[in-house]
Amino acid sequence: MYSLNTQQKRLQEKARRLATEVISPRAKQHDIDQEYPWDNVKDLSDMGFMGMTIPKEYGGQGLNYLDTVIVVEEIAKACGVTGRIVVEGNMGAISTVMKYGNDKQKKMAAKYVLKGDKPAICITEPNAGSAATQMTTRADKKGDKYILNGIKHWITGGGVSKFHLIFARVFDENGEELGIGSFIAISGEQGLTVGKREPTMGLRSIPETEIIIQDMELSADRLIQPPKGLARGFAGLMNAYNSQRVGAGTVALGIAQGAYDLALDYIQEREQFSRPICEFQGLQWMLVDMSIKLEASRALIYKAAGNAGTGFPDIIEAAQAKIYASESSIQVTSDALQMFGAKGYSRDNPLERMYRDVRMFTIGGGTAQILRTVTASQLLKRKLPQTRNGYQTH
Ligand code: FAD
Ligand code: COA
Repeated sequence: MYSLNTQQKRLQEKARRLATEVISPRAKQHDIDQEYPWDNVKDLSDMGFMGMTIPKEYGGQGLNYLDTVIVVEEIAKACGVTGRIVVEGNMGAISTVMKYGNDKQKKMAAKYVLKGDKPAICITEPNAGSAATQMTTRADKKGDKYILNGIKHWITGGGVSKFHLIFARVFDENGEELGIGSFIAISGEQGLTVGKREPTMGLRSIPETEIIIQDMELSADRLIQPPKGLARGFAGLMNAYNSQRVGAGTVALGIAQGAYDLALDYIQEREQFSRPICEFQGLQWMLVDMSIKLEASRALIYKAAGNAGTGFPDIIEAAQAKIYASESSIQVTSDALQMFGAKGYSRDNPLERMYRDVRMFTIGGGTAQILRTVTASQLLKRKLPQTRNGYQTH
């Protein structure tokens, strides 16, 4: 188990103060307005929480993933959307570029993120969600350029993010497929448009949109070269993506911890049958089970983040952390709402928003089912029929 050092405790305290004093009071209105929380983004940037993981030579602080999840949890306790912005400002696309990109690409990504831009990671397509390897977005080499075409869907930050990392099948000039790669694209560049915005159940102040890529010409140096080449490109990119999965699990944990904290106070204040409702064993046992789920989630998250070192979180540890944290957080948040009785069901109570927000995390970033399959495939050291067209024995 990882214990926090003095520097990490200070970081946690700094994030906690911002979350409770500034972000929490704004959360309800952002949810109602369904508009991107630019005010929070400015505060996150001013406090140095965007681009924390960017190495010092590129203007960041060179912090690690454990430092990052500490901050994410605190921010997500107050606002799930803002927690997600911290994740994407430090994990996922930005760390892919910082680890795999060349100097020019790193400088470009750092410039955007350090100013508060939350990169958009564009993997999913209308017909390729869990089956991400079946994506059809393509990049065709033409001289010193690539021409990109395709439609991405459910892209977090569509229309507000400037920096995009677009996953595509890469073809050489003879039409031969080389593998799956990722390209840097910037909003406003010709060929990239934002399509339909999804009316989401929760996390409403961040847009989820289609990204339509039509004859988009990108210079060849926008292609990120994964370490083992394009033929192993998907594996390399998903390896980097494990960081974002740990981040997503942390947002779920943060929301659930926030819900638990509210319920803990409430059950000691609310009286029925002439005594505080916390005196009823039915709620005491519920409370204890909630606390165990939170601690277990945190332990898995800290393990996955802490073991990453200077690389990415391990595939199994990241999946275990996200599966457990996402599923148990839904339960914890639901139980916290239950403890409020009818009050929990009112839209005047933050629990209602938290419950809608936390529901997402068994879906986005790889569903709980797919992550179990990914983990089983690793544990059994074999390809599994669930993700192939037909049964394969090797
Ligand atoms: P499907 O793949 O159609 O799955 C439907 C159901 O079938 C699920 O329950 C799934 O678990 C199950 N299923 C599918 N295959 C199997 C199998 N082999 N074994 C067992 N069960 C299976 N994508 C991005 O690229 N970028 C983003 O920024 C992004 N943000 C998102 C934000 C939100 C709020 C949401 C909800 C999604 C986001 N996504 C994003 C998309 C997300 O990654 C996909 O929704 C996810 O990968 C699942 O794909 P799908 O929705 O097409 O579901
Ligand atoms: N970390 C490291 N490597 C990974 C990985 C991960 N998280 N996920 C897959 N890989 C590797 C595999 O080990 C495999 O490498 P190998 O060829 O050496 O065995 C390679 O990538 C291809 O994966 P494979 O499992 O063979 O592909 P598939 O087509 O059977 O299954 C899924 C595809 C399920 C792994 C993948 O598409 C997936 O993760 N889907 C969820 C999509 C998602 O998370 N989207 C989020 C968008 S925000």
